[in-house]
Amino acid sequence: MGTQGKGQHLVLPGSPGSGKGAQARLLVQHYGLVHFATGDLLRKEVAAATGLGKATARYLARGDLVPNDLVLQLVRRRLTEADAGQGFVLDGFPRRLSQARALVNLLAALCQNLTAAIRLAVSDDVVVDRLAGRLVCLDCGAVYHAVYRPPNAGNVCPACRTVLHLAEEGKLKCEACSRPIGQREDDRPEVVRARLAEYHRDTGQMKDHCKYKGLLSEVDAIGNEGEVFERLQALLGERVPVP
Ligand code: AP5
Repeated sequence: MGTQGKGQHLVLPGSPGSGKGAQARLLVQHYGLVHFATGDLLRKEVAAATGLGKATARYLARGDLVPNDLVLQLVRRRLTEADAGQGFVLDGFPRRLSQARALVNLLAALCQNLTAAIRLAVSDDVVVDRLAGRLVCLDCGAVYHAVYRPPNAGNVCPACRTVLHLAEEGKLKCEACSRPIGQREDDRPEVVRARLAEYHRDTGQMKDHCKYKGLLSEVDAIGNEGEVFERLQALLGERVPVP
């Protein structure tokens, strides 16, 4: 395991489907960081039908951003858990100028700083292609792609080792729990378009945030996952000091 990124506080303000989750998982493996994804945290709240989940479900279904106070509750809670101290990669937050400011304040209260913000740059056409083919294991949340990262030949989920099989209707299902591997509700084309529109509107403003600006870098996120990760490593190696 490399050590250069260890102890770092990274954010990945890329568009939907730019590969934030895929790259965050590689950063975790390589640098020992903890991965917090606001989308995953919100989907768990919805699945568990908590008060916060009930209050946010309709925003997720439409591809709209969830109100700041609700997302901030989750981020604050997660950043103050013990494992966050080993360094983290925050995926999906901040998404608005107001969230970027709130994050800076929250980290300051915890005597921490952001060490890098890396935008994964892809075109909207690539996003649509990636999200149209994304498949998720509804049991463990593992992410696949019908073309670029299909479940392996033995149909074993590499994350949870659950055996998957093709159901009669042609859908992948989990053998252990019979829950289907399928598309995320918000990966339907009309919702993807809404998410992209929201992203272009809100993130432009955020780039101008002065405290954020000095940290913001961009990485070309076209290419396979390994190629993109090599670019991230090159950037972190140059820009992030060894703690
Ligand atoms: P969230 O879950 O954060 O969705 P997102 O930002 O739209 O990002 P995605 O998860 O869709 O994409 P990703 O960039 O992680 O791509 P991935 O690596 O999976 O948010 C969902 C919703 O929650 C929002 O719409 C909003 O309602 C709410 N929300 C979340 N955060 C919020 C906030 N801060 N404020 C308010 N509301 C918030 O890759 C995509 C696919 O491509 C996969 O199939 C993958 O296998 C494949 N792939 C990845 N990399 C490559 C590659 N290099 N080459 C080929 N295929 C690739």
